[in-house]
Amino acid sequence: METLRLRYDAGPEGARALAHAARLLRAGRLVAFPTETVYGLGALATDASAVRKIFTAKGRPQSNPLIVHVADEAAAHQVAAAWPERAARLAARFWPGALTLVLPRAPGIPAIVSAGLSTIAVRVPAHPVAQALLREVGEPIAAPSANRYTAVSPTTAEHVQKSLGGRIDAILDGGATPVGIESTVLDLSGDRPTLLRPGSVLREEIEEVIGAVDEREGLTAMEGEARSSPGLSRRHYAPDARVRLLPPEAIEGFLRNLDETAGVLSRFPKPPGVEAAWVQLPGDAEGFARQLYGALHSLEDLGVRWVVLEELPPGPEWAGLRDRLARAGG
Ligand code: TXA
Ligand code: MG
Repeated sequence: METLRLRYDAGPEGARALAHAARLLRAGRLVAFPTETVYGLGALATDASAVRKIFTAKGRPQSNPLIVHVADEAAAHQVAAAWPERAARLAARFWPGALTLVLPRAPGIPAIVSAGLSTIAVRVPAHPVAQALLREVGEPIAAPSANRYTAVSPTTAEHVQKSLGGRIDAILDGGATPVGIESTVLDLSGDRPTLLRPGSVLREEIEEVIGAVDEREGLTAMEGEARSSPGLSRRHYAPDARVRLLPPEAIEGFLRNLDETAGVLSRFPKPPGVEAAWVQLPGDAEGFARQLYGALHSLEDLGVRWVVLEELPPGPEWAGLRDRLARAGG
């Protein structure tokens, strides 16, 4: 299959690209599109056979539930079978935005979307292209990140092309995504709200709105069978190389003893005498998140045998990034 590249801009060509993408989705085809976090691989959430194609294109096990994207809170009410007070308060504070809520699934959403679970993950994306697409389609869109299963998530249309080119119908190209890591996932379906995946909406910010939030068990516990969010497998967001997570002061020594090619992601400048490919990322969490996946993709393109990731500081604003680096290194 040839993957069509539809370029979005603010003019009439952008409007045509959007209309074409919406037509494809309504016809049950797969279209990747930008959200503020990462690119999503979209299919009509109400069409079970369209959703099945997502799993095939990604090579993703059908035990791994998807996120449903809707244009606004009113549309989210159609996807969820219950809308607790906590959901209303969080939606008012964080939507549109990078917070995904897990709630009981409404009967109109086929079971395959949430891998047979009785719950559904839903969010209202803030990206103007995602918003415009959802309004043009007029239906909820199921969309996981637009990458092959366990590969690094895409923050540009080029990343999507590299991972899924030839396997999906189209890519709606809206430029680089501003946040850069996937949304925060919060489970509101049980008695106590539980953070399933940290992201740019911080646990502390959520607690300001709804009070105490539990955290899912640590990474190693997630490897067991009994995890509540099957997509949170240990090795995820992983580049195509051996990965090592090290404290800043251990990196030079590690490189000295290595006789294979390596690339380093660091918040600090490259020390003199180091031969490895070295990508310096911003020292603030927001800037780091925006550039992280692009940097991993560029090291992958260089074909280095090792990717060395530098351990991150302890602050709450780094929680989502610590999680992604731990998974990449698993
Ligand atoms: O930012 C994002 O969330 C991006 C953009 C495209 O919206 N999407 C994304 O989707 O990262 P995906 O499929 O790569 O990750 C979805 C996460 C997985 O960890 C999955 O296990 C969890 O959400 N999830 C989805 N539905 C769930 C459910 N019903 N119960 C528990 N976890 C669920
Ligand atoms: Mg993903």
